[in-house]
Amino acid sequence: MDAQTTPVPPPGCPAHNSGARVPLYGPEFAADPQAYYAFLRHYGPTAPVELAPGVEATLVTDYAAALQLLQDSASFRKDARRWRDLAEGKIPADSPVAPVLTYRPNAMFSDGAEHLRLRQAITDSLAKVDTRRLSQSAERISDYLIAQFAERGSADLIADYAKQLPLFVFNELFGCPAGIGDRVVFGITGMFDGVNAEKAMGVMFTAIGELVALKRAQPGEDVTTWLMQHSARLTDEEMVHQLALLLVAGNEPLRNLIGNTLHRLLTHDAYANQGGLIDEALDDTLWENAPMSNLAAHYPVADMEFAGQQLRAGDLMLVSFAAANTGPALTAARKAGSNRAHLAWSAGPHACPSKDPARQVTVTSVENLLNKLPDVELAVPTDSLSWRPGPFNRGLTTLPARFTPAQPTRRPAARPTDRPAAQQQAAAPSAAGKGERGGMWSGFLNWLKG
Ligand code: HEM
Repeated sequence: MDAQTTPVPPPGCPAHNSGARVPLYGPEFAADPQAYYAFLRHYGPTAPVELAPGVEATLVTDYAAALQLLQDSASFRKDARRWRDLAEGKIPADSPVAPVLTYRPNAMFSDGAEHLRLRQAITDSLAKVDTRRLSQSAERISDYLIAQFAERGSADLIADYAKQLPLFVFNELFGCPAGIGDRVVFGITGMFDGVNAEKAMGVMFTAIGELVALKRAQPGEDVTTWLMQHSARLTDEEMVHQLALLLVAGNEPLRNLIGNTLHRLLTHDAYANQGGLIDEALDDTLWENAPMSNLAAHYPVADMEFAGQQLRAGDLMLVSFAAANTGPALTAARKAGSNRAHLAWSAGPHACPSKDPARQVTVTSVENLLNKLPDVELAVPTDSLSWRPGPFNRGLTTLPARFTPAQPTRRPAARPTDRPAAQQQAAAPSAAGKGERGGMWSGFLNWLKG
C-alpha cells in the first residue's frame, strides 16, 4: 500500500502501535465506533480486536462473512465452554465482559438438539403473547412513566423512560407479583449498572426462582406459565435460566432501541414531514445505530481457514452487526430497497426470537411519548451527548429533553378484568409475597389501582 491508501487508526486508538489489537472499549470507541469499523475493514472480512483488557477476539465486520459464520453451526458453536483463552486461565476473573460471555445453561449457549429444544420452548411461549394486550400493557407502563415527570417539563429520556420501560414490560409478560417484580427490577438494574453486580445477579436469580415456584402452584396467563407448560418439559433450573436469558438478552437491547430511536427522532428534522415517522426512524436506527453492536460469540470446532484467516479451535469470534450493516455490501443493498436485510437482530439459528414483540413495544412507547409530549425536544446540543462504553451495546448515557409541562395521566381504578395478570396475582395470597415494600414495580401496580 502507498502512503495515501495506508489506513490510519482513529485518534487515540492503540493500533497506532503496530501489532496492537484494536480495543472496542473506552471513551474513544464509544464516541465514534464507525471510525473504528472503517479502520477495521482494512484488515479484510475479519479483524483482531480486544473486548476488554486481556480479552482477545476476532471480529467479523463483513456482511457475507458474518452470514456464513452465523449459518454454519457445524463449524462454529455457541457453547462458551469451548473458549480456549478462558480454559487456559487467560481471562481476568473480574473482566467486565466475562458475565456476558461465560457459559450458562440456556438457549444462547447451546447447540444442536439441545438448542432446538430450549429455543422452541421460548419461541412457542412468546408466540402466545397477545399483540393487543402487549401494546396496551406497553402503553399503560408508558403512561405511568410519563406521569412521573410530565409536570416537570424536563426529563432524561434514558433514566426516566427507556431504561425503566423494558423492565416493567418483562414483569408484566412474566406475570410478576409486586414483591418478586421489585427484586427482578432491582437485580437486573444493579447487574447492568455494575454496582455490586454479583449481589444484584443473586437477587435476580432468587426472585426468578420464587416466580417459578409460584407459577408451578398458581399458573397464570403469562410467559412463565407457558414456558413451564411447554412440551419441552423444562426443569425448574432450566426455567430459571431461560427466564433470566429473556431478561438479560431482552432488557439492554430494548432499552437501547427505544433510546436510540428517540435520539434519532429528536436529532433529525426529516422525520417530522413523513407519515411513517416512527417505523422509519426505528428502521434507520436498526441499520445505522444497532442496539447490539457486536455479539454472537461463536467458537470454531477445529483449526480452520475462514474468510482468508487462519483460526484455531476455541478462538473467540464475534460478529459486528454494526460494521456489517454500514459496510459497502449492505449499503448498496439498502439503496436498492432491501429495507430489512440488516443484521441488527442477527441471523441463523440464534437470531433474536423476539423481534416482533420488541418492535411493537418500541413503536408503542415512542408513539405514546410523542403523543403525550408533542413539543418534546433535545435539551442539550447534539454533540454533547455521550454513549456508554463497552463492546456489545450501543446506547446513550443520557438523553436530556424538555417540553411544555403537561398534566400527568391519572388512571381510574381498574375493574378486576382490566387488571394485568401481575396485579391479579399480587392480590392473591402467595408464598412469594415477602418482597420489599415500595419498590419500582410496586409503585406502578399501586398507580394502576387508581
Ligand atoms: C423483548 C425483547 C427481547 C427479547 C425477549 C430477546 C430475546 C433474545 C434471546 C432469547 C436471544 C437468544 C436466542 C438464541 O440464542 O437462540 C436473543 C438474541 C439476540 N437478540 Fe434479542 N431479545 C429482545 C430484544 C432485542 C432487541 C431490541 C434487539 C436489537 C435490535 C435484539 C437483538 C438480538 C441479537 C443481535 C441476538 C443474537 C445475539 C447473539 O447471538 O449473541 N434483541 N434475543
